[in-house]
Amino acid sequence: MRFSIAIGWFVVFTLMAASTGCATYISTSLDSQSPSTPSVKTIKTYQDIIIGYAQIGAESEWRTANTASLKETAEQLHVEFRFSDAQQKQENQIIALRKFIVQKVDVIGISPVVETGWEPIFREAKEAGIPIILVDRWADVPDDLYVTYLGSDFVEEGRNSARVMEKLMNGTANIVELVGTIDSAPANGRAKGFREIIQNYPEMIIMDSESGDFTRARGKEVMENFLKKYGNKINAVFSHNDDMSLGAIQAIEEAGLRPGVDIKIVSVDAARGAFQAMIAGKLNATIECNPLLGPQFFDIVLMVVNGESVPKWVPSIESIYFPDNAEEILPTRKY
Ligand code: AHR
Repeated sequence: MRFSIAIGWFVVFTLMAASTGCATYISTSLDSQSPSTPSVKTIKTYQDIIIGYAQIGAESEWRTANTASLKETAEQLHVEFRFSDAQQKQENQIIALRKFIVQKVDVIGISPVVETGWEPIFREAKEAGIPIILVDRWADVPDDLYVTYLGSDFVEEGRNSARVMEKLMNGTANIVELVGTIDSAPANGRAKGFREIIQNYPEMIIMDSESGDFTRARGKEVMENFLKKYGNKINAVFSHNDDMSLGAIQAIEEAGLRPGVDIKIVSVDAARGAFQAMIAGKLNATIECNPLLGPQFFDIVLMVVNGESVPKWVPSIESIYFPDNAEEILPTRKY
């Protein structure tokens, strides 16, 4: 009798699954909590869900690679991926999130341009039952407003930059710092980690810090200002990303100095442009920040929509690169 009821449920749910496209499996009363009703778990696939993604913009080589990784993976998985580019404005990201909520997407992914100001819109998503996955950048919100953060340890990137800088400069340096977007997680984290290490070396001095907004054009402008202000007192640059480093290299050359020699430069990202600069002897090191997060992001999405637990932070695996083997490594770089 129990067996025939189970077969009946099996037929009903198999038909339901076929019509919705979901994969279904049933556990009968033999392995369920309740003795009379079989419990049914519906496993969602990529074809059953819609994902909304609020990207920051296209401010750097890194970001372009990050967007490409997300879009390429979505295509390979045949998943409906609604992508929005906020042109580096928080208000545009908030508009995108609200649109995704109205559209009732299943999951929202976001790289928050800045750390603060997200709580009200994240709460709206939570009330609508839409989970949020933070990708690449952290947001300063209570833990219950996002499922997980997939991305780098920005503070450690800052610490590694300082460790490398200290070795390059033998513990004595007049440093200028090209800061990323103000109030962004990578700018805050990298600045913090760098200072944590530098404070142990009294002759490593940060002369000045200014935001170059993670772009090459602003990095150049800020470096020009530093050079006007401090001239050849500057002998080291800590730049929060490779694009700003490339801008700074141009400014240093235009001022008649040799980047990488007269002024040592430590950068973050490990993008192809940085490898080319290292090969040319103009950049001294780059600390990797991995943008190829597409495959991991979509794995997490599927776990989340199927109710599986995911760690609160999924860190990316990253290295440090120097000029000595840049030529050999460049052809293997995907961004
Ligand atoms: O959030 C990651 C940072 O954003 C990268 O270091 C930078 O290049 C990008 O624009």
